Amino acid sequence: MNTTPSHSTHDAQEDMRNQDILIYVNGEIVPRDQARVSVYDSGFMLGDGMWEGMRLYNGKWAFFDEHMDRLFNSCKAVSLDIGMDRAGILDALTKTAAANNMTTDVHCRLMITRGVKVKPFQHPALSQSGPTIVIIMEHSKPAESLHKAGIRLATVPQVRGLPMSQDAKFNSHSKLNCVIACLQAEQAGADEGLMLDPHGFVNTTNACNFFIVRGGAVWTSTGDYCMNGVTRQKVIDLCRANDIPVFEKNYSLYEAYGADEAFLTGTFGAQTPVAEIDGKKIGVLDGAGPMTQRLQKLYKQLISDHIAS
Ligand SMILES: Cc1ncc(COP(=O)(O)O)c(C=O)c1O
Repeated sequence: MNTTPSHSTHDAQEDMRNQDILIYVNGEIVPRDQARVSVYDSGFMLGDGMWEGMRLYNGKWAFFDEHMDRLFNSCKAVSLDIGMDRAGILDALTKTAAANNMTTDVHCRLMITRGVKVKPFQHPALSQSGPTIVIIMEHSKPAESLHKAGIRLATVPQVRGLPMSQDAKFNSHSKLNCVIACLQAEQAGADEGLMLDPHGFVNTTNACNFFIVRGGAVWTSTGDYCMNGVTRQKVIDLCRANDIPVFEKNYSLYEAYGADEAFLTGTFGAQTPVAEIDGKKIGVLDGAGPMTQRLQKLYKQLISDHIAS
């Protein structure tokens, strides 16, 4: 029986201040227990909305432009009118951070739905009063145990779909595909689900992008079936800028099981080491291997440079 305590890539250090945060709801900034949306909201009823997870360091939102590119592209693709431009969103974020007296080590979930419906049915035209915009900001530092122990992955039956079903590039409120994958992984005794693409190649996990390291080279999926992660792209760019061979390619579990290292990427946890896949230990260390450690350092430096610029 597996006796290792379970953890997830979104485990954060306990911070009691998060019990008393203020939340932005459509222009109002209210205490957490008073932050409410309607039961007629399209996000609640249908998962009809888009979100971004972002981090605030020393008063600056990391890679704000990249997050806005993805958000605005996604909303355009589903005809969701945000009702404000990037400057308006930045202003709402700034006001929420100021109200909470937050400046660094903050994680935010910015959520935009099609808004309140006049009837409890699917048609988008039933949302007639404009979008619902919510910003939740929490004090957040990823739990250190993740970096020492690594994450355990299980390959799950749930796959990433083809783009003409529900494009994996949509960071939509509906994450049922990912939630099912996560449940399957948990039932297999793992922390997170490793998802394959429709052809059986290794693709991504239910909440993060996935990389392996083999023979000094960094591999990740082609990107065709996974979230176009901001952190994923930064890691690829860092490899290129530092002469680390990096490949976006198809590969199977055969290569993943035999990898020297594996790690996950996401805004929340940056680069999280993978300890095992389907019960097979990856690499020789429990935590981050040498390439993962190198990329973690390069990424930290990239954030510092970006924040200072
Ligand atoms: C399914 C999935 N993969 C990967 C990511 C990581 O993306 P990013 O690096 O932009 O945080 C996310 C984050 O929202 C996600 O939901």
